Amino acid sequence: MSTTFTLDTATSRAHPVPEPLRRLTVPAIQKRKGGEPVVMLTAYTARMAQLLDKHCDMLLVGDSLGQVIYGLDTTVKVTLDMMIAHGAAVVRGSYHSVVVVDMPFGSYEASPAQAFENAARVMKETGAAAVKLEGGTAMAETIHFLARRGIPVVGHVGLTPQAVNALGGYGARGRSAAEAETILADAVAVAAAGAFAMVVEGVVETLGRRITETVACPTIGIGASAACDGQVLVVDDMLGMFERVPRFVERFDDLAQRIDAAAATYAAAVRERRFPTEKQLYL
Ligand code: KIV
Repeated sequence: MSTTFTLDTATSRAHPVPEPLRRLTVPAIQKRKGGEPVVMLTAYTARMAQLLDKHCDMLLVGDSLGQVIYGLDTTVKVTLDMMIAHGAAVVRGSYHSVVVVDMPFGSYEASPAQAFENAARVMKETGAAAVKLEGGTAMAETIHFLARRGIPVVGHVGLTPQAVNALGGYGARGRSAAEAETILADAVAVAAAGAFAMVVEGVVETLGRRITETVACPTIGIGASAACDGQVLVVDDMLGMFERVPRFVERFDDLAQRIDAAAATYAAAVRERRFPTEKQLYL
């Protein structure tokens, strides 16, 4: 009897038949400034990446996974190992989108050298095309250091959730003229440092528009402005997985309710011995 066997990866859940889509590149995204809007969603798992990939230009393995996947209260507790595990899964599940992995809190702020060491680990161990890091003028030197050494960087200005303890909450930013000027200066510094795109999060609309008109790289808005060069949402928010719906979220489905109904139907079928039927058994 033969002891060898072949694993049919073509039909496994982990490796469905790959679609012959060419992956977009960082320069291709950069050229979208003022043109066709950049479509970005977060993704944290291989299967979700497979489902979103052909619809998106960029997939963001956001540190929002701390709250969305792990039930943490803030993104501050997210680790580099968590980001790498999920980043690698999203790269395995996608063929088309530019995959960007968030640098978690504490993995890049100390020095450009610390940022390079950890970002290089992200690139090597996930296969992602770029990293994203939060911060404005304070991070410009670091962004420059990474970009000059072959690590494409997406900036993130405005509401920066990793700074929640310093900001005191998640309220929209740029309401006062002084704060708006500071955030605009942040965006200018991030772009000048060499970020190929930047997320602009949770700012008053006029500021989101002004940033987009001012900087040379594409802006990707979340609670910013329809004038941004692209938009991003947390996929679970977009799918209606959570009860809380922040102002900047549009629910494009009500998946939580549909999962609840499906689980209730399954539970009733098991309890009433209607599942499994002969169809699901090896007779
Ligand atoms: O972590 C994340 O999901 C993000 C988006 C909200 C832009 O940074």
